[in-house]
Amino acid sequence: MVKICCIGAGYVGGPTMAVIALKCPEIEVAVVDISVSRITAWNSERLPIYEPGLDDVVKPCRGKNLFFSTDVEKHVSEADIVFVSVNTPTKTQGLGAGKAADLTYWESAARMIADVSKSDKIVVEKSTVPVKTAEAIEKILTHNSKGINFQILSNPEFLAEGTAIQDLFNPDRVLIGGRETPEGAKAIQTLKDVYAHWVPLERILCANLWSAELSKLAANAFLAQRISSVNAMSALCEATGADVSQVSHSIGTDSRIGPKFLNASVGFGGSCFQKDILNLVYICECNGLPEVANYWKQVIKVNDYQKSRFVNRVVSSMFNTVSGKKIAILGFAFKKDTGDTRETPAIDVCKGLLGDKARLSIYDPQVTEDQIRRDLSMKKFDWDHPVHLQPNSPTAIKQVSVVWDSYEAVKDAHGICILTEWDEFKKLDYEKIYQNMQKPAFVFDGRNIVNADKLRQIGFIVYSIGKPLDPWLKDMPAVA
Ligand code: NAD
Ligand code: UDX
Repeated sequence: MVKICCIGAGYVGGPTMAVIALKCPEIEVAVVDISVSRITAWNSERLPIYEPGLDDVVKPCRGKNLFFSTDVEKHVSEADIVFVSVNTPTKTQGLGAGKAADLTYWESAARMIADVSKSDKIVVEKSTVPVKTAEAIEKILTHNSKGINFQILSNPEFLAEGTAIQDLFNPDRVLIGGRETPEGAKAIQTLKDVYAHWVPLERILCANLWSAELSKLAANAFLAQRISSVNAMSALCEATGADVSQVSHSIGTDSRIGPKFLNASVGFGGSCFQKDILNLVYICECNGLPEVANYWKQVIKVNDYQKSRFVNRVVSSMFNTVSGKKIAILGFAFKKDTGDTRETPAIDVCKGLLGDKARLSIYDPQVTEDQIRRDLSMKKFDWDHPVHLQPNSPTAIKQVSVVWDSYEAVKDAHGICILTEWDEFKKLDYEKIYQNMQKPAFVFDGRNIVNADKLRQIGFIVYSIGKPLDPWLKDMPAVA
């Protein structure tokens, strides 16, 4: 029986290992973490992350061939394959701060593997890491080994949150990179055999280590670049009277461009895009490629521009001040169908509005008050350092209230900002909402999910990203 251990029971480690356990009943899978609360939650009725379909995968396997444990060393020492799926945050201090990946958690996991191992192991990079990380990990492992053979593989994860289970069941591809040696090829084959339980062989791609590591950064950079491209177009649409949805549709029908990932929004969020592009930028700079670095940096700059453009639009529409005005924030997660708030555009939008002294009433169906307050009081990039290491008492922000219902959030508000595309926001009774708001009543749709014409008929002044402007907004000062 092959034994697998995964270090890191987070958004990637938990669902990925649960799917392996479900699809490979003869393999024993242990997911370990230093966070006691996370492991307790994985072993409870209420899993630590909200992900559609996750319960149905975890519950049938848990206690049979899927185990969640804090006994990291025991499970690592017993495993044949060790996945490492720990955080790889952006460095907040020192060399490369604000760009480079912080490999502290990865390095400590690698040192621990070297210390506790008594048999040969395949060590799999599941975390997203800078290209050439495998070389550093190899050095750590081999310098400490006692004649033990470690083979390092890169097996980056391409799942998206909210659709993680679907993506894992039916991946576009699984990528495995390894050393081009007989031992490397054998290790690749072992991992391939695991995925081959449910992934068609033609979708399991093999590559050298550096190509596999770089492919992950490249994929996220390309995806994020599409969103910044369409968001840049959205600004031009607003200035010219074009409609970004029509532009997206028109260009997306070109089979070379394709229709996916062309939705204009208040900006992309999530734990990966910004972090991985910054990492890519740093690697380019370190390799003497400033032009390439600047090219990718622009993707982040446009994303920041889109968020501040949204805030400016809100403030300028409301007579250039939101001081003391109640603004309802509908949605705080970085996308629908997740409770994850890492790098959500809602943080920057809320901070921008608070900077103009607005009073915020925030509602998200999956995000807790504690999490929202922590996010609004945290410094940039601190979010990706394990939760148990973060201060648990966030600074109280008086102008923020967090409520558990959309209607409560919008009551007596001057304006509504829709920041996450939750389906329930499409179905709200906007007639009723209008009656209970201050007038003029504004809706700023950061996800283009409401029917703006219908809302205008009710009496709302509506801003939709990249759409022809409401006559009211046209009369307001230009937005920088
Ligand atoms: P996460 O923060 O949800 O989980 C990481 C876990 O690792 C935490 O629970 C933390 O306590 C644990 N950990 C840290 N150091 C440890 C150690 N030394 N020993 C044991 N446990 C340790 O992060 P995530 O979202 O699962 O991401 C993990 C990696 O996967 C990152 O490199 C990320 O870039 C990459 N990734 C994430 C996604 C995504 O959608 N979230 C997708 C693809 C790739
Ligand atoms: C992303 C990648 O898609 C995934 O392959 C990788 O493994 C991890 O990073 P994730 O961040 O979970 O996944 O979600 P994704 O669906 O990519 O959305 C990221 C952000 O872009 C969200 O804030 C989303 O709302 C935004 N987005 C996405 C848009 O603004 N417009 C779009 O057309 C698509």
